[in-house]
Amino acid sequence: MQKGKFITFEGIDGAGKTTQIDALEFWLRERGLEVVRTREPGGTPLGEKIRAMLLADDMCVAAETLLFFASRAEHIERVIVPALERGAWVLSDRFTDATYAYQVGGKNFDPAKVEMLETLVQGALQPFKTVLFDISPEIAAQRLARARAADRFEAESREFFRRVREAYLDRAQRSAERFFIVDASREPHSITEALLTEAQSWI
Ligand code: TYD
Repeated sequence: MQKGKFITFEGIDGAGKTTQIDALEFWLRERGLEVVRTREPGGTPLGEKIRAMLLADDMCVAAETLLFFASRAEHIERVIVPALERGAWVLSDRFTDATYAYQVGGKNFDPAKVEMLETLVQGALQPFKTVLFDISPEIAAQRLARARAADRFEAESREFFRRVREAYLDRAQRSAERFFIVDASREPHSITEALLTEAQSWI
């Protein structure tokens, strides 16, 4: 039986997730809770190696999807499940909703294949809550241009990110109880306020 809570954070590149995860992490720690902060792809030494390949090397979408799930399998087994069993809160910057949004929504990969991999790798594990930072690709692109050089995913077209955004919103609609959608175009401090107000109901 898992005692901890698994929270994931999603949104297109440039949505401003990091600042908000920082704020939630601080808020939970202040309440004396153990927090494990992690990310996908990555989260383990092998996962970080896979991440480097995924962000830099050109590959077909099937190989890409399998690598995301390879990284995820390692992440679940070595980090997420042990932490949840200890009673920790696991905050993961991205998880399987990203595969549905980027590989299925963005690149037309077959959702039935993703479902098979999801069952294989996760069994019954699903996030307790997922925070979706929703923002237009135009505003997100402006933020990214100021912040850093684009990786392989960030260099995709505006149209690609429009499809990714729609796929996220579609998933949020289908699992309305799991998702908390925030308008990520707002001022960061007002997003934090909304997030922490919502988080009170998670404790
Ligand atoms: P992320 O860590 O959010 O990127 P950054 O640190 O540069 O903000 O994620 C890396 C990229 O991988 C991001 O563009 C989204 C993409 N991604 C997928 O396409 N599918 C997935 O399943 C996951 C987890 C991420």
